[in-house]
Amino acid sequence: MSKDESQERESKPRKHIPVMPKEVLQMLNPGDHDIYVDGTLGMGGHAKLVLAIIGEKGKLIGIDQDAQSLKKAEENLHIYKDQCVFVQDNFKNLNKILKRLGIRKVDRILLDLGISSFQLDNAQRGFSLRNDGPLDMRMDQDSQLCAYDLVNSLSEKEISNILKEYGQERMHNRIARFLVTERAKNPIETTSALSHVVLKAMPQGKKRERIHPATRTFQAFRIAVNRELEALDASLDACIDALSPGGRLVVISFHSLEDKIVKGRFKTLEAANRVRLIVKKPLRPSEEDVQHNSRARSARLRVAERI
Ligand SMILES: C[S@@+](CC[C@H](N)C(=O)[O-])C[C@H]1O[C@@H](n2cnc3c(N)ncnc32)[C@H](O)[C@@H]1O
Repeated sequence: MSKDESQERESKPRKHIPVMPKEVLQMLNPGDHDIYVDGTLGMGGHAKLVLAIIGEKGKLIGIDQDAQSLKKAEENLHIYKDQCVFVQDNFKNLNKILKRLGIRKVDRILLDLGISSFQLDNAQRGFSLRNDGPLDMRMDQDSQLCAYDLVNSLSEKEISNILKEYGQERMHNRIARFLVTERAKNPIETTSALSHVVLKAMPQGKKRERIHPATRTFQAFRIAVNRELEALDASLDACIDALSPGGRLVVISFHSLEDKIVKGRFKTLEAANRVRLIVKKPLRPSEEDVQHNSRARSARLRVAERI
């Protein structure tokens, strides 16, 4: 089950708990004076743990493309404010960000992919199929394209491809056909309207699945809106380039598409003698972790050290 799926099983706002905190600290292994880049700052959960270790001379570059999340992180990290630089941007622009800040090399980088409970719980952001809201799904609210545009403008074939590729949805053709038929009557404007059409498209047996039948469709459109896989693919080499020798990159992914990209890039970088892989197989959350935080269930953590 992916983080999105496990998140969708609950409908009440949740206390924010960072995923696999023990493993993240062990694998990042931060030290005094380190420059730590959190490329997916979210609410600053992991960052707070790292800041407590790197001491007063350490520094956090906290990046998030979501302005609301960044504001929340600033509040949560206010006791460390003199050590923090908050940047609203995509982590794929890491090189430019560091250049702008006059920083040549950093020591630790964390990418904890996907969306946070803070984003999912806000109905107005349109990520959740359980809380009705506009079909938005943009992490970066300054970007032009939202889920409404994809759902209401793409061809049946294009929608089917998105559902197949990013949602791994077996009913991709059928859902795409229903969406195109329904939107010809009325545009699909809300999360509940989208989830309603998907339910309608599902054969009886599929409606009794463990997860909500529209979960994969929502995941697919979210990944497409935010170009999540492209950003990840374009970033891993740049992250390694930004590290000083001995520096580490930790990536936590939540579905097989992301993990495949991380595994593949890390292997190539290892073969080119640019990194050493600290764990051969991805670390998985402990039972205890999953009990405290159902979002952790599908997490896979990989770590590469710059040679
Ligand atoms: C799972 S949350 C991170 C939670 C965080 N580790 C914590 O403990 O609070 C992922 C965050 O990364 C942001 N994000 C995802 N992809 C991004 C990207 N390509 N560039 C910048 N931010 C991104 C999302 O907006 C979200 O706030």
